[in-house]
Parts: sequence; C-alpha cells; structure tokens
Amino acid sequence: MTKLYVNPNIKKGKINKEIYGHFSEHLGRCIYEGIYVGEDSAIPNKNGMRTDVVEALKKMKIPVLRWPGGCFADEYHWKDGIGPKENRKKMINTHWGGVVEDNSFGTHEFMELCSQLGCEPYINANLGSGTVQEMSEWVEYMTFDGLSPMAALREKNGRKEPWKVKFLGVGNENWGCGGNMRPEYYADEYRRYSTYCRNYGKNRLYKIACGANAADYHWTEQVMKIAHPFMDGLSLHYYTVPTGNWSDKGNATGFNEKDWYQTLSKTLFMDELVTKNDHIMSKYDPEKRIGLLVDEWGTWYNVEEGTNPGFLYQQNTMRDALVAGINLNIFNKHCDRVHMANIAQLVNVLQSVILTEGEKMLLTPTYYVFCMYKEHQGAELVESTITTEQIGLEKEYMVPNLNESVSVDADGKVHITITNLSLTDSYEVDTVLTEAKAKSVTGTILTDEMGAYNTFENPERVQSKGFHDARVTESGIFFTIPACSVVSLEVELA
Ligand code: AHR
Repeated sequence: MTKLYVNPNIKKGKINKEIYGHFSEHLGRCIYEGIYVGEDSAIPNKNGMRTDVVEALKKMKIPVLRWPGGCFADEYHWKDGIGPKENRKKMINTHWGGVVEDNSFGTHEFMELCSQLGCEPYINANLGSGTVQEMSEWVEYMTFDGLSPMAALREKNGRKEPWKVKFLGVGNENWGCGGNMRPEYYADEYRRYSTYCRNYGKNRLYKIACGANAADYHWTEQVMKIAHPFMDGLSLHYYTVPTGNWSDKGNATGFNEKDWYQTLSKTLFMDELVTKNDHIMSKYDPEKRIGLLVDEWGTWYNVEEGTNPGFLYQQNTMRDALVAGINLNIFNKHCDRVHMANIAQLVNVLQSVILTEGEKMLLTPTYYVFCMYKEHQGAELVESTITTEQIGLEKEYMVPNLNESVSVDADGKVHITITNLSLTDSYEVDTVLTEAKAKSVTGTILTDEMGAYNTFENPERVQSKGFHDARVTESGIFFTIPACSVVSLEVELA
C-alpha cells in the first residue's frame, strides 16, 4: 500500500499565487479571436474582450498574465499599439505565420484585460530590437503619475491614472529569437536596459532577466554572475516535447502508451532543471531573494493537421492534464525558489486551458487541473513524502507512479494534489497526518482514457467531478486513486 506522510505543521514556504500564471502572445489565435474580438464583434464581449473566456478564466482564478511575447516581444514596439486604432501601424508578424498584425490590441487593451480578469500584468519588454529609451519610456507611460511626456501621452490616449505594473521582463529568449546573444553580452545589456526602468511613485518593478533555454546551465551561471544584483527574477523556459525532436514532436492526439510514459518522463525532467538552476543561483543568492520564473512551460506537439504551422494550435488530452498536474506539483515543492510560472499559452496556442472556434469555446483537461489546484495559491507548502514505485514500458522512460504536493491555507485547511501516472493501476493511498487529526475530507477528480479530449461537438467529454472515495481514518485519510487521474483533496483538521 502507498504511504503518504503529511506534516501540516512543517511549513516549507509560501506558494506564490503567480506559480499559477499564464502567458499570452501575439501568436496565432491567442490574442486575436481567442481573447480579443473587438467591440463590434457579434461574439459577446466587454470592451472587445470575449465574455465567455474572461468568465472562465476568472473561475480558474488566473493570478498573472505575461504579454506580449515570447519571440514577439523582442520585435514589438509598444508605440505602434497606442492611440486611435485607425492610425495604428499594420505590420507583418514575421515570427508567427506571417499574418497582418494591426496592433488593435496594445497596452491599453492588455491592461483592460487584466483588470477584467483581476490579475497582475506581466509586461515582457523588447531588448532584442528595441532601444533603451523605448523600454524606459514604456515604463514611464504605464506607471508615471505627474508631469512627463509619456504621462501626457497616456492621458491624451484616454487614461489619466497610471497603472500598477510590477512584473517587467527585460527581453525574452535573448539566446535565440531575442537576438542570438551570448550570456555575457546579454547580461551586460540587461544591466544597461534595466537601469533606465524606473520605479515611479509607489510603483515598484520586479525586474526579470532572461534565463536559460532548458538545461543551458552555462547561461544561468554567467547571467547570475554578471547581473544578479540588478534582477529580482530570472526566467527559465522548458517545453515537454514528447519525441525530443523539434522537427517531428509527436501528435497531440492518437498517441500510444509508449508516448504517454515518454511524455511524462520528459515532463519530470523539470524537477532536475529547477533543482540545478536553484543550485547555481544559490551561489550568488543564497537567501533566495531572486525568483526562478518558469515563464514558459507546457507541451509542444506538431500542429493540428490543416492549421497554419506558425499558429501552434494543438489539442489537449488527459496526457496534458497529467503534464500540468506534475509540473504544478514540482513548482509547489520548489516554491522557495520558483516564484512564478506561466504555462504557454492561454488560448488556442500550445497547452491552452481554453480553445475557441468562432463563437464556440471549450475548456481543456488542463483547465480543470488549474481549477483543482487553485487552493494552493498563496498557501503554505508543507512537508509531504510519498512512497512510489517506478513504472513504464521502456527503461529509458520509467516514471514514479505517483506525484504529489500539499499545502495549508490561511484557514488551516490542508490541500493535497496528487497525480497517478499509471495507465493501468489504481493505488490505495494511506495518508498519515503527523501531529494532526483529520475531521473531514472532500475531493475532486479528473480521469478518463489517456487520449480523451474535448471537441466543439462534445465539449464536456472530459471534466472534473466530485471525488467521494476518500475517508477519514484514525491516522489521517484513506483513498484509492484510479489509473490516469488527477485528484485534489481538501482536509479539515480536528
Ligand atoms: O510559446 C511559443 C514560443 O516559444 C515563444 O514565443 C518563445 O519564447 C518560445 O520559444
């Protein structure tokens, strides 16, 4: 029998709500169609933002949203996206599908979206092809309250009050699409650009340096060495690519058992990545002041047949639900260093929580996982250990059968999230609460066949439901977790 030991009294640090963050880029149908349809659209909207999408995201309790990219960020010139829409520059989105970008969604629209969602904005500014002055002025435009050219311009464009902007990314993937820089060069550029991003009034920026591409530890080492006193956060990007081959990544649907375990094993690599980056960062920042921000993560498959290859549109199955559950448990367990994480991307791109088609919208299995994990936001991570066994079909891609994290919220309730990676076996989990007694337990489960997904014809095939198989015992709680599932439990203590 599996043993899960939980000590609700051993607190390991706060799980920042931003770990449950998201990312929206000017890419494919994420911003346009997926979120923003314009005021004149027949699709119900408030100030151009799709009402159905906004309402679903509010239910999921989205805490922070990163924008405008991604690779798009280092080609984005923010002044193209302000002022009367008819005067805004039309341009080609060279990076993503070569389509026309009409700049109708810009700074004011993004801030309106964040205000409707009740989430924090995370602005990723352009270091790759923009100037120091341009970045500096964007900060001034958004946050300065007083007499200044940018504050006056903002007022002319209909917004007198400054916005509150905390999270500021200074470049994106500058080792690649953001300028193909060497870490030493980027680190110096980071120091220069970030110097001119000022704290105006009460606004305090949390400045984020571009971090490594997956296991490029040399990048982390150099950027930390040269620039750590000037940053609050360092990013990290890692995608789960099932085959590990970028020219044929594997398909989102119609996969087999081997693909399942291979995908989950590649997802679990996140733990090693975070651990090793943390070690390097600790050499320069032992107090863990600087956050590691995994601001792009998730599955990346071949695009759906017949769709624009530059739009990165993919379906989302139970496999994605497991990928999300595992990653979020990993981030929770590393919350002393992981201060934010942003799944890529919000709607219609890569591992989305929402897909749209015209006026139709569906919630993906990944959406349900974010809802089931939302009680971890702002809670305290507590000590937990679970006995596991290695399972799988190929030696190279064996995985532990179960993966979990546990937190205690402000009301003292214990929240357990656990994933069962096995396609065949359910497990009895005897959960022992150390120095505490359970009074009651309730739960939610997401489970289905491994390849199950929602379509616009059958949008409710995969959805979470009440989990009633957990019961209180003398020493804690007991439950059986079915194969291929994600479970969340809320335990009230006596
Ligand atoms: O999320 C898609 C792309 O992946 C982003 O634009 C880029 O930062 C990363 O390579």
